[in-house]
Amino acid sequence: MSKIRKAVFPVAGLGTRFLPATKAVPKEMLPVVDRPVIQHVVDEARAAGIEQFIFITGRNKGAIEDHFDIAYELDRTLKERHRTDDLAELARDLPAAGMTSFTRQQEPLGLGHAVWCAREMVGDEPFAVLLPDMLHQSAIPCLKSMIEAQAEHGGNMIGVYEVPFEDTHRYGIVDVGDGPASALPIRKMVEKPKQGTSPSNLAISGRYILSPKIFELLGNQPRGTGGEIQLTDAMVTLQQSEPFHAHVFKGRVHDTGTKIGFLTANIAYALERDELGSELRAALRTLL
Ligand code: G1P
Repeated sequence: MSKIRKAVFPVAGLGTRFLPATKAVPKEMLPVVDRPVIQHVVDEARAAGIEQFIFITGRNKGAIEDHFDIAYELDRTLKERHRTDDLAELARDLPAAGMTSFTRQQEPLGLGHAVWCAREMVGDEPFAVLLPDMLHQSAIPCLKSMIEAQAEHGGNMIGVYEVPFEDTHRYGIVDVGDGPASALPIRKMVEKPKQGTSPSNLAISGRYILSPKIFELLGNQPRGTGGEIQLTDAMVTLQQSEPFHAHVFKGRVHDTGTKIGFLTANIAYALERDELGSELRAALRTLL
């Protein structure tokens, strides 16, 4: 496989679990401390050397496109007020013009279908997929270490982390053979196994490096779990002709698609911040 330059961000989901907060605001724009969830994930991809950011959006997701654009009025006001630090931070967060692309999924047919919508923009090269709900907190960004492992071991690479066995039915699960934790050979993958049937407790964490062959398979993929076109099902087929490795993520995964995961992520990221950490610690002690 060649250099991983492009990343796909499926952001079409409705976010019904966060209503009414997500009635007019995309769930990906909810803040974790003071950065939208999607900005955290784009930061991870940029730190991994990604050059093209492909967003699979839907209706009412315009705020994401606006977020990754210059806001002239805001910039002018900040300049007039000599807020140079804020200006510099906004500039730093923004991928350069031409590095972002947006297309609509049109119908909510599942994650596999969302990724398939990127086929023309990705073309014939390996690419990354990052699920914005899943924040990967660590000193070395998850996608960066996955790209390094992929350069060494080749094949398709799936980020995984350990979850309690009783939660395995909520995730894609992989069964692995022996090897280094950065690239364990995958023997089997299953999307949301029924409780008590999971082959392991290694869950797919929402980070993927995939070969472009996946697009052809996704185009013919029948609906799977939940009546949706599942990315995992197409990966199972691709595994018949290409190797797959599991990369065990060493940091902390926050599933911000759940209320508890979202709240925990806010606390965990705030605790890491110099200007907030100690005050928050004290505030939490008082609350508890
Ligand atoms: C998707 C994937 C699943 C993965 C999960 C991580 O499921 O299909 O394999 O474990 O993301 O969040 P979803 O959460 O979209 O149902």
